[in-house]
Amino acid sequence: MASHLRCENVTVRFGGVVACDCVSLDVEEGKIIGVIGPNGAGKTTLFNVLSRFQDFSEGKLFYREKRIDRYRPHQMVALGLARTFQNINLFAEQSVLSNILVGSHCLIGNPFASLVWTPGARRIERELTRRAFETAELLHLERDLDTLAKHLPYGHQKRVELARALASKPQIILLDEPVAGCNEEETAELKNIVRDINRELGITVVLVEHDMSMVMSVCDYIYVFNFGANLAQGTPAEIQSHPDVINAYLGTEE
Ligand SMILES: Nc1ncnc2c1ncn2[C@@H]1O[C@H](COP(=O)(O)OP(=O)(O)OP(=O)(O)O)[C@@H](O)[C@H]1O
Ligand SMILES: [Mg+2]
Repeated sequence: MASHLRCENVTVRFGGVVACDCVSLDVEEGKIIGVIGPNGAGKTTLFNVLSRFQDFSEGKLFYREKRIDRYRPHQMVALGLARTFQNINLFAEQSVLSNILVGSHCLIGNPFASLVWTPGARRIERELTRRAFETAELLHLERDLDTLAKHLPYGHQKRVELARALASKPQIILLDEPVAGCNEEETAELKNIVRDINRELGITVVLVEHDMSMVMSVCDYIYVFNFGANLAQGTPAEIQSHPDVINAYLGTEE
């Protein structure tokens, strides 16, 4: 079992609040890993640590067994990690195509070649645009490419965020509540998309989500957090019948 992304005993403090308290997580290559827990359990903070948007005071981080404790977010993108955010964060006044292309800027190479518009730069631009169309198709956004992001329904905007993350050609993607605020139909569609991203593109997926039907149906393995700490881990079946999890989370109204 090859580890793609791993943290060991990571602690993050915000003043007196311990958002992550000696937290460990091991994401196996090629799997879909769920991260669940009640509000305030530290899930987003952990994602921020793993994508290097957040520093931590104790613990260790590994990407394919390489220590990455002090990497910056752009270095994580270069390693092949992409993420989406809990709150939609698109360029509202830009088209869907432009929003997707923003995600591929890391693949452009020499920016001076783009400035003077060399044949090489034109070729790369064509290739990135072709890829943006492919990604849009995978996410059923092909008819929205010219639409301004702000004019799209909520569920479509969530998919544009995902498309933008995929445009960087990641090997692993962290999704923070991809179906939050989506209706039943949009949620069902996103479930299939997450499976396709994993199976067809071979991308490892880490998924924070409150929608239990999604988590239980798409994840291979689940980590449960509570009050900033590891509470349980196991297969969906194990988690669904775990007494501590039922007490802490599944038994309570979200
Ligand atoms: N930048 C910050 N400054 C101070 N406290 C923070 C900060 N970010 C998070 N926290 C606190 O850390 C704890 C964990 O927050 P976090 O957002 O990681 O939880 P979460 O599991 O993602 O919750 P939710 O399910 O509501 O998104 C909470 O008590 C939160 O208030
Ligand atoms: Mg969160």
